[in-house]
Amino acid sequence: MARDSVGIIGTGNVGVAAAYSIFQRQIAGDLILVDRDQQRAEGEAMDLMHGQSLVGRVMVRAGDYADLTDCGVIVITAGVGQKPGESRLELLNRNAAVFREIAAHLDRHAPDAVLVIATNPVDILTYVMQRLTQRPAHRVIGTGTMLDTSRFRAALGEYYGVNPRSVHAYIMGEHGDSEVPIWSTAKVGGLSLFEQTVNGRQFDPQAMERLFQQVKTAAFDIISRKGYTNTAIGLVIAYMVRVILEDQKSVLAVSVDPQGDYGLEDVCLSIPCIVGRDGIESRVAPLINETEHEGMQASSQVLRNSLQGMSI
Ligand code: 2OP
Repeated sequence: MARDSVGIIGTGNVGVAAAYSIFQRQIAGDLILVDRDQQRAEGEAMDLMHGQSLVGRVMVRAGDYADLTDCGVIVITAGVGQKPGESRLELLNRNAAVFREIAAHLDRHAPDAVLVIATNPVDILTYVMQRLTQRPAHRVIGTGTMLDTSRFRAALGEYYGVNPRSVHAYIMGEHGDSEVPIWSTAKVGGLSLFEQTVNGRQFDPQAMERLFQQVKTAAFDIISRKGYTNTAIGLVIAYMVRVILEDQKSVLAVSVDPQGDYGLEDVCLSIPCIVGRDGIESRVAPLINETEHEGMQASSQVLRNSLQGMSI
C-alpha cells in the first residue's frame, strides 16, 4: 500500500521539528516542505534525505502549494513574528492575512486534506482558518493544549513515579495563560487522583498547584533559555498526523469549536476529541466541576476578547 503524503507549510523551528519527527518515525511516505523561502525548504529537505539510509524510504522534498494535491494532512506552522512596537491585534491581523493566502492556495490544490494548525496564537488562528477555508470545520484542527497535556502528564508521572503513558489527565481551554487543569477526571491506572491514594501519595492541593504552574510557564521557561520551543511540539504534530492518517480514533485534547459544550461556541479552544481520518469525529467533553467550568468560561472570554476587532 502506498504510504500517505504529508505537507508542512513553514520550515522554521517548529516546522523542521515536525518534519524530523514524521521522518524519523516514518509516519508519511512523502513529506513536502513549503516555505516562502524556497531555498530554506530545499536545504531542510536535503538535510533530512541524507538520513534516509538510517531511517527508511521516506521521500522528503521542497515544493509549492500545487505539490500538496495528494496530501491527506497538511500542517501549518507558518506565520509572522511580532515587530517592535507592534500591538497584539496588529500581529493577529497580519497573521490572519498570511492565513487568508494559505487558505486560498489549499482550497485550490488540496481541498480535502485535514489541516493541522500549529502557529500561535493557535486557538485564534484555528478559528480564523475555519472561517477562511471552504472545507468543513472538523477538518481544521489546532494543536491546542495537546502539548500542555503532554507536559502535564509528564509532570504527574514524575510526581507519582509512574510512566506518563499511564497518567490520564487533560489540560483544556486556551493554549496559554488561561488554560485549565482538569483534576476532577485525572487518573493513574484508573485511580482518581482527587479521591484515592496513588502509589502511596494522596492529592496535595499545594503540590498540585505548583506542578500546574510549572506546566503553564513551561514555554516561557524554555524560551528564556533557548529562545523558542520546538521539539515537543514537533512530536505532538507527528503524533496527531499519525492518528489522522491511521484513522486511529484516539482521544486528543485539541483546539476546536465547542459547539455548545460547557455553553461555549463561536470560539476555538481545547476539549478532548476523537480524531480520525476525517479530522474531528466527535468531542468527548468530560463532566467537570464548578471551578473547572468557570475556568473554561474565563478561557473562552480571553479568546473572544482577542478575536474582537480582528479583520478575518
Ligand atoms: C509552547 O507552548 C510556545 O506554544 C509554544 O511551547
